[in-house]
Amino acid sequence: MSLLDLAPVIPVVVIKDVETAVPLARALVAGGLPVIEVTLRTPAALESIARIAAEVPGARIGAGTIRTGADVAAAVAAGSKFLVSPGTTPALAEALESSGVPYLPGAATASEVMALAERGLRELKFFPAEAAGGVPYLKSLAGPLPDVRFCPTGGINPETAGDYLALPNVGCVGGSWLTPADALATGDWARVEKLAAEAAALR
Ligand code: 3PG
Repeated sequence: MSLLDLAPVIPVVVIKDVETAVPLARALVAGGLPVIEVTLRTPAALESIARIAAEVPGARIGAGTIRTGADVAAAVAAGSKFLVSPGTTPALAEALESSGVPYLPGAATASEVMALAERGLRELKFFPAEAAGGVPYLKSLAGPLPDVRFCPTGGINPETAGDYLALPNVGCVGGSWLTPADALATGDWARVEKLAAEAAALR
């Protein structure tokens, strides 16, 4: 099954404290969002991915903010089951293609989408979604490029997620609103689970 069809929302998570990784993943899974993207933006990211992979069997854990071949190797070695990148260079596309796991390469323009489609890639991350044009922009891409589907991410919130999910070329959306920094800092897992449950009900 496609990564885009497993859940309506992929939580994009920035983990500062590795001790929060497992409880936050459990809260997201309990709320109904099993696909979790941990961004490689903190020193705790790789160890967090490893712990979630080992200790939260219900989670489909992946790595985000993949920028280089080295990121691909480190993320897969840590136990990532999928990879997400904000944009895509030819070198990164090659590394993703040989990673052995599913991936969502980032694109934001018709030319970028077409370059990836030429490589046979038709499931992409659309980033930065709101800043790049949001729902009207994706609607416009669906005309000439109807065979490409997206996970838009960047600036999406609970109020706008439904509009994205209603588009024929959107499989799921990504966002960080499920895991607010203050909830992670105080260990408010009930709040994370509630936000996840509300997001899971979006479709
Ligand atoms: C990101 O890469 O930071 C994601 O797109 C999350 O964006 P958001 O914080 O605007 O949801």
